[in-house]
Amino acid sequence: MISPCYFVIFGVTGDLAVSKLLPALYYLSREGRLPDNLAFIGVSRRDWCNRQWHDFMHEQLPQRLGKDYSKSDFDVFVKRFTYTQTIHDCPEHYINLKQELGKPRAGVCANVVFYLAISPADFAVVVSQLDAAGLSGRLLGNRIVLEKPFGYDLASAQELNQHLHRHFEEEQIYRIDHYLGKETVQNLLVFRFANSLVEPIWNRNYVDHVQITVAERKGIGRRAGYFDGTGALRDVLQNHMMQLLSVVAMEPPAQLDDDALRDEKVKVLRSIRPIPCDAVSQYVVRGQYGCGEGAAAYQDEVGVSENSVTETYVAAKFYVDNWRWSGVPFYLRTGKRMAQDSTVVSLRLKQPPLQLFRETPMEDIEPNWIVLSIQPDESMHIELQAKEPGLDMSTRTLQLHASFRDENERRLGAYETLLMDVIEGDHSLFIRFDEVEWSWKVVDPILRQFALHQSAVQRYPAGSWGPEEASQLFDSADQSWRNYI
Ligand code: BG6
Repeated sequence: MISPCYFVIFGVTGDLAVSKLLPALYYLSREGRLPDNLAFIGVSRRDWCNRQWHDFMHEQLPQRLGKDYSKSDFDVFVKRFTYTQTIHDCPEHYINLKQELGKPRAGVCANVVFYLAISPADFAVVVSQLDAAGLSGRLLGNRIVLEKPFGYDLASAQELNQHLHRHFEEEQIYRIDHYLGKETVQNLLVFRFANSLVEPIWNRNYVDHVQITVAERKGIGRRAGYFDGTGALRDVLQNHMMQLLSVVAMEPPAQLDDDALRDEKVKVLRSIRPIPCDAVSQYVVRGQYGCGEGAAAYQDEVGVSENSVTETYVAAKFYVDNWRWSGVPFYLRTGKRMAQDSTVVSLRLKQPPLQLFRETPMEDIEPNWIVLSIQPDESMHIELQAKEPGLDMSTRTLQLHASFRDENERRLGAYETLLMDVIEGDHSLFIRFDEVEWSWKVVDPILRQFALHQSAVQRYPAGSWGPEEASQLFDSADQSWRNYI
């Protein structure tokens, strides 16, 4: 695919652009990965000239880049940017944008990337306006990138998708879930499919249960406007966690191309047993953080209504009803203001028959675990049993721990990978609509019950591991949340 010559970022002054996209583009620029001919146009509602935009970049970015900031690299990066004001529903602003895009540039002018780092509520209007201004560029192969969440529920996701397809072809559309850009998530594929030690036991015969945790210490920060109407289920579980679950549970794809990988993920999502509407409380627990560790309670955060019942935590139990996973529970949880930053996939293996080791009471023998830490620690950890040194024939846990990278190796950000993929036209780490659709099908019954039973939100103190009630999800008394690597 021909490289774009313009990369337009809508919402360029927003949280996502400033904290993730611009730093990622700076790294790509510094490392010489961006095509020479590629220019960026920042777009937001602010009535700014280029100089004001450049001042904003100089104010906001150096502190975020920390020790990676270099004045000379940054100056080169800033020079690639111009700025255009665009009120989302103002046709004249799109005409201005079009004129900007029509300016002759060095080299052959190819297509344009439009990155919508804006509120999902505004996706539809921007998409229509781009097309109305003649910017959808079907023939040129312009691309459009949409952040998650894609839709608000199944019906709105389907509606948004139909709307999108009225203006853009599927090959032009990139639906982002930045978790797929994380190297450690991609490493899950390698860990599973490149090791003959691992794959033969990765199934219902050996795995007792799977836990996936996405815990964050931070609260909602300045994002009340978005988060209070969204909640943890839509914000993280429906997308990032469903993607993690599908990568953990999928069959090996025939090859690593766009569709083979996504076909396998969809099969997993389709196999998730629907949660019965009348039993949601046995499968899902939602919580909201109270105060703790000097931080305000969620309801006291700026911009949150004092009676808000939006969940900042959700834990759920799913079953993947296929040959590989039948009967194995998958326990998922995500929360803000939790005890630690920790994104981890843990598999507890089944116990072998242990009569041989009579001198160790059965309950003292720990099962084997495989733990893959995705962030902040990027590591693999396996727990086995070994003989306790000494005269007695008893066992103790042996921990095998390996870091995914050397301390000095720079961590490639998820957005660097994904932005490069957009520029190079590679869809494999982006979400196909059927994945979005099946994830919503899993989550929709839960959302309906949440709406009906608004009072069922459990409080948990900030800095804890979430509400106690989440431990009632486990199928058996010997299962519990693993709160450490
Ligand atoms: C975003 C969510 O998609 O992912 C945020 O909107 C969440 O609420 C973030 O904090 C987590 O991403 P990461 O890369 O920091 O784990």
